Amino acid sequence: MAKPKISYACQNCGAVHPRWSGHCDACGGWNTITEEIQSAAPVGSLKAKGPARSNVVEFVDLKGQNAPLPRASSGIGEWDRVTGGGLVPGSVTLIGGDPGIGKSTLLLQLVAALAQKNLTCAYISGEEAIDQVRLRARRLGLEQSPVHLASATSVRDIVSTLEPQKGQKNPYDLVVIDSIQTMFVDTIESAPGTVGQVRATTSELIRLAKTHNITVLIVGHVTKEGTIAGPRVLEHMVDTVLYFEGDRGHQFRILRGVKNRFGPTDEIGVFEMGGKGLAEVPNPSALFLAERRERISGSAVLAALEGTRPVLVEVQALVAPTTYSAPKRAVVGYDSNRLSMILAVLEARCGIMFSGQDVYLNIAGGLKIAEPAADLAVAAALCSALSGIAISGDAIIFGEIGLSGEIRPVPQPDLRLKEAEKLGFKSAYIPQGKSKPSGHMDCHSFTTLDDFVRYLRG
Ligand code: TYD
Ligand code: MG
Repeated sequence: MAKPKISYACQNCGAVHPRWSGHCDACGGWNTITEEIQSAAPVGSLKAKGPARSNVVEFVDLKGQNAPLPRASSGIGEWDRVTGGGLVPGSVTLIGGDPGIGKSTLLLQLVAALAQKNLTCAYISGEEAIDQVRLRARRLGLEQSPVHLASATSVRDIVSTLEPQKGQKNPYDLVVIDSIQTMFVDTIESAPGTVGQVRATTSELIRLAKTHNITVLIVGHVTKEGTIAGPRVLEHMVDTVLYFEGDRGHQFRILRGVKNRFGPTDEIGVFEMGGKGLAEVPNPSALFLAERRERISGSAVLAALEGTRPVLVEVQALVAPTTYSAPKRAVVGYDSNRLSMILAVLEARCGIMFSGQDVYLNIAGGLKIAEPAADLAVAAALCSALSGIAISGDAIIFGEIGLSGEIRPVPQPDLRLKEAEKLGFKSAYIPQGKSKPSGHMDCHSFTTLDDFVRYLRG
């Protein structure tokens, strides 16, 4: 028998080291390296052993004769939008999210919807007992749906159960693995959830998906930093990576695509967690603005764009004299570096000083905004918070701010304006651009931040 191979892998970043050490050079983590024993042949390669010989690689043209990808649309509009029209058979999707955010709920609702469409779906839970999953199904009103439920953690068992017998049809079209951190293969000695196990179990599941055209959905835990736990290579291995995010204090949940080999990655799906599970939110703007109080200083409405969909959200800022030597900058739902940049531009180009002030910035509703088009709304909220002068409650704002204090155009201004008009907004503060806004909105366009700030002060 071949000697087992010993490697030393960092549990944080997945880097493999030749010997044990207390410090990982790759990610800088301390005490993250553990020994991993691997038998010479992983499960998948057992069958493929033969005498060594080389074959000629065949080349083909790019065109091919394949029909467009068939997709399994679930009828859950927000899910289908994020996946690009539904799951592609044989694809592997990884879904990450904080504990308790609703991953298991989402996937149970999804498999129930797909089972309605005559797909044979399996839901394998390694975290919860059968009764717990049944309890959730009852709460969701899905106990009658023909989903095959099992509780298992051995990937060898799972693969041999799902694999079709020789010459027979696939017994299953789709399988949910909840979660990858509980799964193990017996060829590796380390505990479930370690880098080696996560990598090996994922590659076994990918092999199952690709050889038998079974759609695989994998739940992955996230670390404190918010990335999927385990090696980064996990995200490279799978076809699609989705994050299910949200604030546990809010009922909104956002499904965000970060990688998709078969569709767009900039779309979001918005759900609302209620007593009967997740409900789709077809018009998120109305929901995000529902609790807004008008005529309050420090509040600005941003017309953001998430994928192809415009979303209106409230940007809230609060400025208070600091009691520390270094003033505090706290953000929720926004990039703190971007906030520092906007504060610096306001100070250097417009002479508005925030030194000696603590600054708090919040995107209301639990949405995370990353696009530069939010800059102008953030600047407006900050100036309004500092001066105490409220911004007109029926105005929306968007625009990117450059380091020299210029306001730059952003993509799709018309789409943003149309959404604002639909929700009853009357005016807009926007960058000077070529596009002439249609409709009845009163548009004020600006070329420099200085002009805009002067305008706000009246
Ligand atoms: P769950 O899907 O178990 O989260 P995850 O798999 O991401 O850990 O969801 C857990 C939370 O959702 C739990 O705190 C209860 C809440 N919840 C509802 O509010 N309504 C519901 O109908 C269900 C099923 C769960
Ligand atoms: Mg769960």
